[in-house]
Amino acid sequence: MQSRDTHLHIGLVNVQMAESRVCFIDGEAGILLYRGYSINDLARYSTYEEVAYLLLYDRLPTTQELKDFNSQLASQRGLPAELLRTVEQFPKRANVMDNLRTAVSLLGSYYAGPAGQSLEKNLESGISLTAKFPTVVAALHRMRNNLKPVKPEASLPHAGNFLYMLHGKRPDEVATRAMDMDFILHAEHGFNASTVAARVTISTLSDIYSAVTSAIGALKGPLHGGAAGEAFKTLKQIGSVGDVESYARKALSQDGKISGFGHRVYKITDPRAVHLREVSKQLAEKTGNLRYFAIAQRLEEVAIPLLKEKRVYPNVDFYSGIVYDNLGIPEDLFDSIFAVGRSAGWVAHTLEQLQDNKLIRPLEKYTGRTESAYVPANKRK
Ligand SMILES: CC(C)(COP(=O)(O)OP(=O)(O)OC[C@H]1O[C@@H](n2cnc3c(N)ncnc32)[C@H](O)[C@@H]1OP(=O)(O)O)[C@@H](O)C(=O)NCCC(=O)NCCS
Repeated sequence: MQSRDTHLHIGLVNVQMAESRVCFIDGEAGILLYRGYSINDLARYSTYEEVAYLLLYDRLPTTQELKDFNSQLASQRGLPAELLRTVEQFPKRANVMDNLRTAVSLLGSYYAGPAGQSLEKNLESGISLTAKFPTVVAALHRMRNNLKPVKPEASLPHAGNFLYMLHGKRPDEVATRAMDMDFILHAEHGFNASTVAARVTISTLSDIYSAVTSAIGALKGPLHGGAAGEAFKTLKQIGSVGDVESYARKALSQDGKISGFGHRVYKITDPRAVHLREVSKQLAEKTGNLRYFAIAQRLEEVAIPLLKEKRVYPNVDFYSGIVYDNLGIPEDLFDSIFAVGRSAGWVAHTLEQLQDNKLIRPLEKYTGRTESAYVPANKRK
């Protein structure tokens, strides 16, 4: 009989579930690497397409490889007309994440094929899925607002095309770059809950669409995705720079949490927040909509000293709502924007899981009753 580690690890806290080459995080030092490359360099110099290539192939592409990969993604953005007709019937008032989860699952009905496919076929599906994610979210947004979906434009990059499909007009360079950087910063983050959900599903040798559908379900929860919306709501609720201090002191004196602050892993400012702070400032200055940026900055100034002892600092979601607001993205879409960015990371992890697969099947510590005598219903008290 196999020897068993009988320790209980509630929430799998501090459990290393598998070896991985995708992402390195040092939460004490604020270091985040995708495949060994610093998030700071990727955010400044890369594109989402290049980052997706890096995550999927475990190396940066050559110029020609990147050109080919860009074309491959651009050529696969379209959705079957039949699928769009079905999506049009989805409840318009539903949470966008519910409709996104269902739409990605539906994509699987068109493209997944039988379970247990080769790694090559799964890579192909993963690229197609990454390419289609923005199209799905943009179509969901337009249809719930009684607008016709906009067909993808192959000449635009991944992020620029997303904004184009969302708003029906070509975005300028600043907006495109901001969206691109946001996607890069959300592309990957180790064994977070949604990624683990994807890995559990693919470990049964299911298919990549099922794995990503599981991931979207996990991302929907307020303990995972959803914080960008909450953080932005807080800024709106505060309303003015002059009210920040009293808000923060009151919230913290009542043991409340400030949304967009704190992280299970980072015990210092989340490195992604630093870039989003810069981008949200640029966008706010461009649009002249500086109110929420100014409130956020003041909230940082006030809350950091108050939370220093607990090592609670701004996280990735603190500034992302301001970025989205300045890009004309409504609050109901915030979590699905996270999903668009994260799609490449989910795919990279499902492929890595398949390369050295072991069915993920932990044990429970059973605390229920044992060996009870069955009593027929008419004799039960
Ligand atoms: C992200 C989060 C769930 C991490 O939680 P965690 O690692 O389990 O840490 P805890 O919630 O146990 O927090 C540890 C301490 O810091 C405090 N703290 C954590 N986040 C805080 C916040 N945003 N504002 C104020 N205090 C906070 C807790 O109250 C707790 O204090 P205590 O020890 O006096 O009880 C938590 O920081 C949080 O709820 N943040 C707000 C939501 C958010 O922005 N989520 C997005 C994360 S990317």
